[in-house]
Order: sequence, then structure tokens, then C-alpha cells
Amino acid sequence: MIQLHDKQFVPFISAKEIDFALTKLAAQVEDDFGDDTPIFIGVLNGAFMVVSDFLKKYKKPCEVSFIKMASYEGTESTDSVKQLIGINQDLSGRTVILIEDIVDTGNTVEELKHLFKAQNVKHFKIATLFFKPEAYKKDIKIDYIGIRIPNKFIVGYGLDYDGLGRNLTEVYKLAE
Ligand code: IMP
Ligand code: MG
Repeated sequence: MIQLHDKQFVPFISAKEIDFALTKLAAQVEDDFGDDTPIFIGVLNGAFMVVSDFLKKYKKPCEVSFIKMASYEGTESTDSVKQLIGINQDLSGRTVILIEDIVDTGNTVEELKHLFKAQNVKHFKIATLFFKPEAYKKDIKIDYIGIRIPNKFIVGYGLDYDGLGRNLTEVYKLAE
């Protein structure tokens, strides 16, 4: 059991399970777009660890960049997604693969899809380490999914509770 601010969390997903899921994701993307020199776009802050470990497993030529979005307040997703840092590179004709730590309601990926579609990209695909099917409210296809989880609040491996918990190497869920 660990304590972050006022809440307690219990172990949920091991480092080994995460590693396995990322190996699979990297292999799938490599199979589909390995000849394309994709540009991976990590969604900050949460995706920094996913992107780092994913890229080490992706063996073909690729580029990486980051965009910073924020929608969460405490343990609740909010409807307004703010773009805090943008991408200043020309993406027209490129294969863009968004890398998310987690897709919850889908507000963030919806916002990002609009943003990148407007830039005449060749392909726009979405990859996420974690996905909450019960919370997802959108029609947009999530192309690559690492691990499906129930509608629980989790921390660790880049994910935070009000700023804390990102440095944990394993994933914890809110204690009931
Ligand atoms: P969405 O826009 O509701 O899909 O939420 C996406 C963003 O909210 C993610 O990229 C995370 O940063 C954050 N988020 C969603 N679920 C969790 C969670 O269980 N723990 C921590 N952050 C989360
Ligand atoms: Mg995120």
C-alpha cells in the first residue's frame, strides 16, 4: 500500500506486464508502418515513460516529438482539454502516431485527432498503453491498445494523482 496526498493505492499492474505490452505494441506498429519513418508524438506529461520505453523497443527509423495537454483535475477528467505546448514541425504527408499513457473518456484523443487531421498528415494513428473501455465515450478508433483496465483511477509509470506517483515503476490503483 502507498499513500499519495490523502489517498491510498494498492499494487495493480507489474513492470513485467507493462514491458510485455510495450514489446507487443512496438512490434505491431513496426509491422504496419516500419517503412514509413513515423513520427511518434507523446502526450505530456503522462506519456513520458511510455514513449521512452516504447522507442527503445522500436527498431526502425522514426522521429519523436511531444505535445502537452491537460484535462484532469485531481482524479476526475474534465471536458475541456487545454493545449499547453504545441508541435512546430511540418507534419504534412507524414505518418503520425500519437502515444498516450492512458485513454479514459477520449476527450484528449478527440481533440488531438482534430488538430492533426487539419495538418494533412498521411496517416494518423493512436497508440495507448492503458485503455478504460467502460469510460470511453467516443467513436474514434484506438488503433493500438496495450492493456485494457476497468474504470479505476491508477497511478505510476508516468501517471499521477495531483502531481504525485509518476516516478513509480509499477502501476497502482486507488484502494477501495
Ligand atoms: P481523457 O481525455 O479523459 O481520455 O483522459 C486522458 C488523460 O487523463 C490521460 O492522458 C491522463 O493524463 C489522464 N488520466 C486518465 N485516467 C487516468 C488515471 O486513471 N490516472 C491518472 N491519470 C489519468
Ligand atoms: Mg495523458
